[in-house]
Amino acid sequence: MADRFPPHIDMDTPSIARMYDYLLGGKDNFASDRKACEELAAGVPELVSFANDNRAFLRRAVEYVGARGIDQFLDLGAGLPTTDNTHQVAQRTNPRARVLYVDNDPMVMAHGRALLGDTSTTAFLLSDIRETDRILHSPEAAELIDTERPVCVMLVSLLHCVPDDSDPFGVVRDLVDRLAPGSAVIFSHVVSDDPEAAAWLTDKILSFGTSWGRVRSPEEASVVFEGLDLVGAWADGRDEGPHVVDCATWRHPERTPVARPDDPAVKRWELAGVAFTR
Ligand SMILES: C[S@@+](CC[C@H](N)C(=O)[O-])C[C@H]1O[C@@H](n2cnc3c(N)ncnc32)[C@H](O)[C@@H]1O
Repeated sequence: MADRFPPHIDMDTPSIARMYDYLLGGKDNFASDRKACEELAAGVPELVSFANDNRAFLRRAVEYVGARGIDQFLDLGAGLPTTDNTHQVAQRTNPRARVLYVDNDPMVMAHGRALLGDTSTTAFLLSDIRETDRILHSPEAAELIDTERPVCVMLVSLLHCVPDDSDPFGVVRDLVDRLAPGSAVIFSHVVSDDPEAAAWLTDKILSFGTSWGRVRSPEEASVVFEGLDLVGAWADGRDEGPHVVDCATWRHPERTPVARPDDPAVKRWELAGVAFTR
């Protein structure tokens, strides 16, 4: 099987993109990824449900931002192709919507390009998201993203993969500051109020040799929204209630929030929100 994959793909060390693919029920993963997920699920039984809730949040948020008229998306840490990829969701609202997918995992690039192709409305760029200049000045961005007009920057389940010493929130702030007013940020992040649980999950993932940052507290992750206008989205224009929420309950104009289990033992792991620049 190994010769089906480019040599720079390390099949023995679990990768976040392939583990997430496994959690979503995909087939683009290896034994090392599946084993890592099983080990994580032993300590975090909500793992499969919060991965799927996060992906469902991505779909609702892209629909929402597209309906607000934004037609260009920079999907950072895009992940392996799955059902309802960003361009497919966005193009249901606007067939001319354009998406630049960026990821640093070579398998995401190989599968993304093979399955979805680079077209006049979508492209894949292999890059670390910390290389913002390289991304914004790439030929792919020049083709698809006009930074003079509002852009939606997607940071969905991404920044917990980036360690503090890289200043992930500073990198994002620098990027967002360069965008036209009225640009959108779609964001989710693995969080925990329980330092012990956060440390367990972080240490476990690092023990696989996987590139990763850490689980942060909700307060630490919410810093991404400073200076932005957070939205609560109801069809009748109401703007009430918590704006930064568990990803399963993020509000969409046409969707009621998902009911959450009453059982306090069931933890909520993925904080989410959508905001616009001024
Ligand atoms: C948990 S997946 C999320 C995928 C997708 N955004 C979603 O929420 O459905 C995180 C993705 O971020 C990518 N990633 C992690 N660190 C990255 C970095 N520093 N630069 C670019 N991509 C990164 C991983 O390869 C993986 O595909």
